[in-house]
Amino acid sequence: MGAPPMTDEGVPDLYAALGLVRGASDTDIRRAYRNLVSKIHPDKGGDADTFRAVQQAYEVLSDATKRHEYDTTGTVVRSVEDEFMDSFAGGSFRDRVRRGEMEKVNLSDQISVRQEKKAQSHSSGFEAWMRSRGNAGVKVYTSEDVIDQFGVVKDSYDAVPLPKIRAHTVRCKRSGVPSEVLAVEAEALPQGLEWGEVLLSIRYAPVNPADLYTVQTGGTYGESRLEPPFVAGHDGVAVVVKVGPGVKGLAENDWVVPLGPGLGTWRSLAVAKEKDLLKIPTDLMPPEQCAMLREMLAAYRLLEDHGNLKPGDAVILNAANSTVGQLVLQLCSLLRLRAIAVISGHKDFERTSEWLKGLGAAEVLQDSGSLKFELESLKFFAKPKLALDAVGGASATRLADALGEGGQLVVYGAMGGRAPHFTWQQWVFQGVQVKGFNVRRWVRDNKKKLPALLESMAKLVNAGKLRAEFTEYELHSELGEALEHASDRGRNTKILLKVTDVGEQYE
Ligand SMILES: NC(=O)c1ccc[n+]([C@@H]2O[C@H](COP(=O)([O-])OP(=O)(O)OC[C@H]3O[C@@H](n4cnc5c(N)ncnc54)[C@H](OP(=O)(O)O)[C@@H]3O)[C@@H](O)[C@H]2O)c1
Repeated sequence: MGAPPMTDEGVPDLYAALGLVRGASDTDIRRAYRNLVSKIHPDKGGDADTFRAVQQAYEVLSDATKRHEYDTTGTVVRSVEDEFMDSFAGGSFRDRVRRGEMEKVNLSDQISVRQEKKAQSHSSGFEAWMRSRGNAGVKVYTSEDVIDQFGVVKDSYDAVPLPKIRAHTVRCKRSGVPSEVLAVEAEALPQGLEWGEVLLSIRYAPVNPADLYTVQTGGTYGESRLEPPFVAGHDGVAVVVKVGPGVKGLAENDWVVPLGPGLGTWRSLAVAKEKDLLKIPTDLMPPEQCAMLREMLAAYRLLEDHGNLKPGDAVILNAANSTVGQLVLQLCSLLRLRAIAVISGHKDFERTSEWLKGLGAAEVLQDSGSLKFELESLKFFAKPKLALDAVGGASATRLADALGEGGQLVVYGAMGGRAPHFTWQQWVFQGVQVKGFNVRRWVRDNKKKLPALLESMAKLVNAGKLRAEFTEYELHSELGEALEHASDRGRNTKILLKVTDVGEQYE
């Protein structure tokens, strides 16, 4: 048992896996699968690999297109959607066996930790103490860390001279309404690149809610603060055009995105530190979509890390027409999740609703009244396992109300400007679990997982399965119009500042 049966040509014999021969009818295939699956399920003592082989065989042979492909070529062509489904959540999303295995591993981990504690030997106590000190206590300091902390003596290297260019730069002078406190200025580049610095040519920078919030508050972003006058813009995609001394991992023409906030991306040229940038493959995906990588990552992680979802589950989200919302809906559609899209009172509800259904929403509701009753009146009885809240206030309460028992509500934004409010009944009787999420924190803690995740998303984007709407404006000449459009409610598109003109040369 275990290894799937093979044909004489050395490829998996899908018919034999179901105990059939080529030419079996659709009914034979369905019956053979049903008979086998109840007998060989691992929960009933069956072998996990055999069960998986049976499931995979049925998946191909029960689909007319895939079966024809297999019958004529002997191979199984896997679509981008199949690959995505199979890789999501470490392969456990669709594969119930793997899900069970992963749950068992997690459980056995927990049991062994409990046993360790019980033993309470001197060495286990010492290890527990070491663990409790966190990573800082065991960190090995490298020369890079020392340079990071103390810098490099200026006389020990030659700065790389920069061209005399006055770059277009959007500065925020003080807190206030973006269109009043932001201005495009011509700002000369520094004379040269210092240790660890690169010169970036910014290609696209989005106008995100976080950028506008930072401007409105005069520099606040999470726990960090920029002092006015600062260069606006946290996100974007850029090309490295010059490399300074001490830079090891970046070269000219590399594509990068900022790792953290505060880079000041609303400008044509920027000097940045290598350590603050993430290098991405130049052909990862179209640059406009790269400019919205943060939203893509957020959408993906919101679904993969929360609600313990499986195909068929329902997910409810507000601000569903936002960039993150659009991406969540498309991912839900790919993952066969039933998404309930909630949007605020739109002037053009019908059109927006049709568009969101086209992206993958099973239902589209107005963000008012009781979403729970509305779903019941639509005979949508599957209670959502996951609610994604980007609005806060009463909207979050409505989402929580619609959740099934023990469902999870994830707060990842606060567009309404009010804190979410939950009733005690939601905590006590409904058992709602509430969690916050920030993708920058995820990136900081999971850098090693990023390349695989980016590749997985890029496959979908490049195959036309995942896309966020955008509208472009020239950074140096159309900032006013861009800000006006960005402040429109119901715009259904991300405003991107595009740079085609780097600025003026001077002597
Ligand atoms: N936690 C994270 O890691 C993370 C990452 C990315 C984004 N986010 C957050 O996710 C949210 C969406 O970001 P995005 O870039 O996708 O947005 P976006 O494309 O710029 O769209 C803005 C969204 O906010 C809604 N909105 C605006 N003002 C509102 C108000 N006063 N009350 C209720 N809704 C309002 C808009 O709805 P209308 O069309 O009805 O105006 C629209 O759906 C933001 O809160 C953002 O900060 C969080």
